[in-house]
Amino acid sequence: MAEYWSTLDVDLHLAVDPASGRRVGLEQALREAIRDGRLAAGTRLPSTRTLAVELGLARGTVSAAYDQLVAEGHLVATRGSGTRVAELGGQSAGNPSAAAAGASATGEQARAARRLTHDLRPGTPDLSHFPRAAWLRAARRALNAAPNDAFGYGDPRGRVELRQALAEYLGRARGVRADPERIVIVSGAVQGLALLGQVLGGAVAMEDPYIPLFHKVVRSHGAQVVPLPVDDDGARVDLLRGPDYDGVDTAVVTPSHQYPIGSTLHPARRQALVEWAREGRRLVVEDDYDGEFRYDRQPVGALQGMAPERAVYLGTASKTLGPAIRLAWLVLPEHLVGPLTEAKRHADHQSEALGQLTLAEFIASHDYDRHIRAARLRYRRRRDLLAERLHTRAGRPAAGFALGGIAAGLHALVRLEPAGMTEAEVLKRAAEFDLDLEGLGDLWHTLPANTLASSAARPQGIVVGFGSPTEAAYPRALDALVRTLSWR
Ligand SMILES: Cc1ncc(COP(=O)(O)O)c(C=O)c1O
Repeated sequence: MAEYWSTLDVDLHLAVDPASGRRVGLEQALREAIRDGRLAAGTRLPSTRTLAVELGLARGTVSAAYDQLVAEGHLVATRGSGTRVAELGGQSAGNPSAAAAGASATGEQARAARRLTHDLRPGTPDLSHFPRAAWLRAARRALNAAPNDAFGYGDPRGRVELRQALAEYLGRARGVRADPERIVIVSGAVQGLALLGQVLGGAVAMEDPYIPLFHKVVRSHGAQVVPLPVDDDGARVDLLRGPDYDGVDTAVVTPSHQYPIGSTLHPARRQALVEWAREGRRLVVEDDYDGEFRYDRQPVGALQGMAPERAVYLGTASKTLGPAIRLAWLVLPEHLVGPLTEAKRHADHQSEALGQLTLAEFIASHDYDRHIRAARLRYRRRRDLLAERLHTRAGRPAAGFALGGIAAGLHALVRLEPAGMTEAEVLKRAAEFDLDLEGLGDLWHTLPANTLASSAARPQGIVVGFGSPTEAAYPRALDALVRTLSWR
């Protein structure tokens, strides 16, 4: 039964489903309206009396629905000024486009469709902290200074201003041996991997678990993907010399902070990987997606610095600024510059120039460093709080929910013990608490049907993206997580 409700400043169409019962139906209809953005944060709702009359419901039914939504955090009741739609954070339950934009590289559409209130999915930084004012100033300066040719077809490698700024920054902050002539600007790490797959072909070892989309992208651009297991010391580099990796001449790894396990590549393995690459004139692709965010010590320098002729460094603005910037960079050995430049030209000629000029200005003015330093402090506090909450489990001593991996990045792995809840149970229960989480299960390389036995050996876990919510929404998201995990 669709009810029409027009007592607000704006008209609102509420579909109250009688099959769910009147109170529950009204709660659902309001929740939907808030999540869809039809009822924006701050909107004042009509009094319970008015709404009861409009909808033909008992006043107590409307009061009970309001109370429930206040308890969930969807509404805020203030004495004297009535009931309003709550601010639910920048991922904004009330803003569908923001919710969609928060979707990470995996399963975006399904997730956007679910739109749960609390978001601890990994994949994005806190988008409410995008440095709007400083970015705007950089854009203004960049546009004023841009030569006319900035608006024409340019070098497929990208704007020289950005390549110069990145070479300076990456050398200084990440220990990358970067020459602006050897940098190619791409539209996200995903395009960097696509172009590399196309240019390199052959067999490419890629960490497993990792981002399945990246495996698919490399495969669909002409390379064969061979999954490379990881453990608490990072990628199992030793296996590369075994028979399963015969013919593999490229390895894609996340040495600073394995995604999603969270380990760092052991120094002995870094050395072994570089030797493997040098001996066979092979290549290491280093996905340094969150290398700036290390909380317990100075970030480990890029592996590329150890062997610039045998390594490709792949960096991105997706974690430091936001995925919508769509800017990432490849620092290449000399022999790959030509082929990658041609591949980029064939893909889309060049990445969009005004964003590149703005980022160049943002980096050169050191606003990028300032932004990262502030973000590092914030995420470090969040990770500490997550560890503390999981340890004390709402005040009670914890049983086995330590965080895996090093203190770094924007995500942490919660391993699930075989005797406890399964991943599927945790995810189902999380949804009941309106909490969006990602299970490790989504991130394994898809195995052929005849290797199901080895999938049984895969550990279970939850990848918690503590970077995703706004500051205001984070404590409530943690509450939901603690409730989810406090089942047994
Ligand atoms: C492991 C890893 N690499 C790279 C990226 C960045 O990808 P892109 O630059 O295409 O947004 C992500 C983002 O989710 C990631 O998790």
